[in-house]
Amino acid sequence: MKILVVGSGGREHAIVWKLAQSPKADKIYCAPGNAGIASIAECVPIKATDVVKMADFAEEKQIDLTVIGMDDPLMLGIVDEFEKRGLRVFGPRANAALIEGSKVFSKNLMKKYQIPTAAYEEFTNPEAARNYIRENKKYPLVLKADGLALGKGVLICGSEAEALAGVDEIMVDQKFGSAGNQMVIEEFLTGQEVSVLSFCDGKTVKTMVSAQDHKRALDNEQGLNTGGMGTFSPSQYYTKEYEEKAIETIFQKTVDAMNAEGRTFKGVLYYGLMLTKDGPKVLEYNARFGDPETQVILPRLKTDLLDIFEACIDGCLDQLDIQWEDNAAVCVVLASGGYPVSYQKGYPIQGLNAFDGRDDMMIFHAGTAFNEKGEIVTSGGRVLGIVALGDNLKDAIDKAYAHVDEVTFKDAFYRHDIGRK
Ligand code: AMP
Ligand code: GLY
Repeated sequence: MKILVVGSGGREHAIVWKLAQSPKADKIYCAPGNAGIASIAECVPIKATDVVKMADFAEEKQIDLTVIGMDDPLMLGIVDEFEKRGLRVFGPRANAALIEGSKVFSKNLMKKYQIPTAAYEEFTNPEAARNYIRENKKYPLVLKADGLALGKGVLICGSEAEALAGVDEIMVDQKFGSAGNQMVIEEFLTGQEVSVLSFCDGKTVKTMVSAQDHKRALDNEQGLNTGGMGTFSPSQYYTKEYEEKAIETIFQKTVDAMNAEGRTFKGVLYYGLMLTKDGPKVLEYNARFGDPETQVILPRLKTDLLDIFEACIDGCLDQLDIQWEDNAAVCVVLASGGYPVSYQKGYPIQGLNAFDGRDDMMIFHAGTAFNEKGEIVTSGGRVLGIVALGDNLKDAIDKAYAHVDEVTFKDAFYRHDIGRK
């Protein structure tokens, strides 16, 4: 089979790496890809959001299966475009990707179908939002821009003044662009946050092993929010009790709700859960694999990923037995000094071959490129994910930190407490 993966981050590197293990994968393309992906796939310089060009390319190369990694092209209807041309593609259509693309939509869906989530109100008018805030007595309060905002459209406000300023930021100054045309204000939940991703074929949902993400830039959850500074899998907080409750109240109910709304979901449905004392509640849905969760989940997958994608497209996921290793994985992100605010690019990276030949450690590239000399250099905030597998979480953590310094570049930094939540 000829396969095309759309995206350019650590998530896409992990997807390509896993697909490359399938005996059915003859040739893999990745658009646009990165310098690490280039060692196992042919990178094609088409922007992930250039939906028409992407479909043209898939037609021209007679691609048998295209896998969409990123959120933006999904919302732009890349799956609809491929399907219209009779091309096989893995991912939700735009009308189903809305479960990630609009907080107002997803919150209303959960309310209508009684799926546990934080209590909320929606607003299209800043003055109504301000009035609501002035009457609210409980802080923190959570403000969310409706649309996609690169994971930044959520403000946790500790006081009325902060919340009022937040309304201006989102709705008046439109700091997140048109994502702020509508807004959700919701109750602050406490507990451990866990990511449970699932494969969906439109009817059946099969969850993957759990993972947890460290979003703050610095140790001990200090510093600014980032796209994710590291992950681990499984989450020890996601107990059998929480899992059973989530199966009963969240997973299948969401898939059924989407069907009832005429928005059948096929692809990866990501449940961002808060494990509260009243049971698991949905913080957010994503319509795709998480990044950097994928980097610790896929290395634990025993089943051929290509078979899973095909079963999802063909609607026969119920007939596939998906197997996972009974082990643990940790991903430590190496980031550029200054991330997530401002940082330099173009620094050469040392030690990229440090784990060659090992099957318990790998490096997934997130932001790398080739310079004019053909060297691999930094080209983003999050540069690399150093992944270690172990018999248990402690093993994986010890291994990751024993070797992380073998890979480096100028001004690189990483967190020292990944997996120690
Ligand atoms: P979201 O994009 O909705 O996942 O929000 C980003 C992050 O904000 C989440 O991963 C949580 O850490 C935090 N967050 C979002 N909603 C809430 C909430 N209702 N209570 C507490 N924290 C929240
Ligand atoms: N790691 C969070 C996300 O992919 O949205």
